[in-house]
Amino acid sequence: MSDRTLAPLGRRRLPVVARRELGAYVVVSVADPDGPAPDAGQFYMLAAAERWGGGADGRPFLPRAFSVARRHDDGTLDFVLDDPASARGLVTASLGPGTGRLAELGAGDDIWLLGPLGRGFAPPRQARRPILVGGGVGIAPLVIWQDVLGAAALVLLGFRDAAHAEGAALMRDARVATDDGSRGHRGLVTELLAAELNGFALRSSQARTSGRRYTRAEVYACGPPPMLEAVRALCAEHDVPAQLALESGMACGYGACFGCVVPTTGGYVRLCVDGPVLDAAVLERVEHPGAA
Ligand SMILES: Cc1cc2nc3c(=O)[nH]c(=O)nc-3n(C[C@H](O)[C@H](O)[C@H](O)COP(=O)(O)OP(=O)(O)OC[C@H]3O[C@@H](n4cnc5c(N)ncnc54)[C@H](O)[C@@H]3O)c2cc1C
Ligand code: FES
Repeated sequence: MSDRTLAPLGRRRLPVVARRELGAYVVVSVADPDGPAPDAGQFYMLAAAERWGGGADGRPFLPRAFSVARRHDDGTLDFVLDDPASARGLVTASLGPGTGRLAELGAGDDIWLLGPLGRGFAPPRQARRPILVGGGVGIAPLVIWQDVLGAAALVLLGFRDAAHAEGAALMRDARVATDDGSRGHRGLVTELLAAELNGFALRSSQARTSGRRYTRAEVYACGPPPMLEAVRALCAEHDVPAQLALESGMACGYGACFGCVVPTTGGYVRLCVDGPVLDAAVLERVEHPGAA
């Protein structure tokens, strides 16, 4: 028995119903009224129905993995993409032809969609306050997770600058940090998290007399690998459980190609079927280029 929402067999051709720009991001909405409601943290493999490779250099060709950011009552799914137009001129190694083509799509275009895939976030353990920590376009799976958790969740988001920080509008009552200080706290989102975890440690020591509802936390994070590694290390230091939505290159999305494996304390796992959300306790570290 699976404890996750399973995808219908085969990919489906569906209409894009809206495209909107949000600072440095694009939100693409797809009508999927007959598809199952995804779990927060699950993802879809997406490909444009037209002009998807086969041209001069054959790229992008393979579908690309995108977290579902929101499901509306009528079944419309929202996806948040880095906007290649905003990224022009910056060092954006992870933006290529797939994101570029998908970010162009608007009402009237069709998309191939497979999903929902993977395993999403598990509910917080009893009496723990969920803290959602997002970096850049990594906010996507946290949007739908906040929709599920409601007001209980504390939201901390980090962005490069004010243009990217406009993405925070997708979430309610988010505390924001920017690298350049153009909005919110100047610095890293992990600095906001460290302050919160220190506060929880203090309140926990006063818990017997204060009668507060939450004296402990559970962290949910998605963002660039160095941010996730910092979150993992901080949570380990504070003995706080964390669930991390990771990324790796995905060719199939359903366990067939082994292109997405990541090392865990129990051996290699396929991130597309065993993740993309993994418990931080099974990771010795979040791998990233430049990690020593
Ligand atoms: C589960 C999951 C959820 C995702 N959710 C989102 C999302 O909500 N919004 C969003 O903008 N992006 C998301 N991504 C990332 C997105 O899939 C990649 O940015 C996209 O596949 C890159 O395709 P491309 O054609 O733009 O670039 P490509 O030309 O294919 O790749 C550009 C460069 O990025 C590297 N790269 C490509 N894909 C990945 C990857 N997944 N991890 C690490 N490096 C990679 C390649 O090695 C290459 O150097 C997600 C990825 C995964 C695995
Ligand atoms: S993407 Fe093919 S096995 Fe995970």
